Amino acid sequence: MSESRPRPLDPEAKPDDRVDNALRPQKLDDLIGQDQVKENLSILIAAARARGEALDHVLFYGPPGLGKTTLAHVVANEMGVNVKVTAGPVIERAGDLAAILTNLRAGDVLFIDEVHRLGRAVEEVLYPAMEDFALDIVIGKGPSARSIRLKLPHFTVVGATTRLALVTAPLRARFGAVYRLDYYDAPAMQSIVSRAAGMLKVEVDQGGIEEVARRARGTPRVALRLLRRVRDFAQVRANGIVTRKVAQEALDLLQVDPLGLDDVDRRVLKTIIEKYKGGPVGLNTIAASISEEQDTIMDVVEPYLLQLGFLDRTPQGRVATKSAYEHLGLEWKEEGQPRLL
Ligand SMILES: Nc1ncnc2c1ncn2[C@@H]1O[C@H](COP(=O)(O)OP(=O)(O)OP(=O)(O)O)[C@@H](O)[C@H]1O
Ligand SMILES: [Mg+2]
Repeated sequence: MSESRPRPLDPEAKPDDRVDNALRPQKLDDLIGQDQVKENLSILIAAARARGEALDHVLFYGPPGLGKTTLAHVVANEMGVNVKVTAGPVIERAGDLAAILTNLRAGDVLFIDEVHRLGRAVEEVLYPAMEDFALDIVIGKGPSARSIRLKLPHFTVVGATTRLALVTAPLRARFGAVYRLDYYDAPAMQSIVSRAAGMLKVEVDQGGIEEVARRARGTPRVALRLLRRVRDFAQVRANGIVTRKVAQEALDLLQVDPLGLDDVDRRVLKTIIEKYKGGPVGLNTIAASISEEQDTIMDVVEPYLLQLGFLDRTPQGRVATKSAYEHLGLEWKEEGQPRLL
């Protein structure tokens, strides 16, 4: 596993994650980039506050490390309410969710991470809870069983997912606002690196900021990680100051290339190109060829390669584009290339 690879699905929190938490923006105004999401959210929040109501349920989706969890906390902070954090795979039984729901207070935010991984029985409890603020409980068994309806306080579900497509339609329909997070542009990435450097007391010049930002694949979490590694390098191999040259050397050593591709990204592309003549090839075949998890490739590798235009998705499988060949310094031949539909 290369250093730059974000492992969003890692169950155990690493020390780096604790630093990330400390760097999390707390208010909408501290958040850099995602201007459209921010503007829409600020309207949603201001309106709910003015009416003295709980915020409508909100769903954030997009690749890992772009700020979904951060935004969930920002939403709660802006509303001035408590947040209870849980995740799809953690809520195993309907009863677990019922216990969580009955402990919420009016206005509270229930943050459900990986909301696409909720079990079916759990989801069925969630539907009336989100829609009618009601919890249906069955008492007794057999013919004498009856169901009673408990009233819940008006609360807000903030859901997050890297896979919108896997969120069931009825659940999706219960979110009043759905926001997509996109990769950050260069100026936003530079501000994020510069802010983090300030908070971590890393000495960095403009060139250093630009280089770290450029290679962080538009993802704040990756930027923070690269910044820490570059800081280590600067401390051990240079005079502690992160200049462009120091950042370049450090990141080259970490095998993060100037476009932010790392070892895994390159192996994915090379597998498609060298083993499967450029594709089309199925995702599971690629994953097996390079011994990586399919989820990692789908959540982390593919979205960025698609964004760079290095990869195409076709009904027959993944295809490497001409730009991918060029970036890797491989020869691209017109004939023998798969024809795209
Ligand atoms: N807009 C932003 N401005 C500054 N820092 C940010 C921003 N968004 C995210 N970050 C930083 O990036 C880190 C990763 O963000 P976060 O954990 O919210 O991502 P995520 O979308 O929830 O990822 P995952 O899908 O893996 O759960 C945070 O610790 C935070 O410090
Ligand atoms: Mg998260």
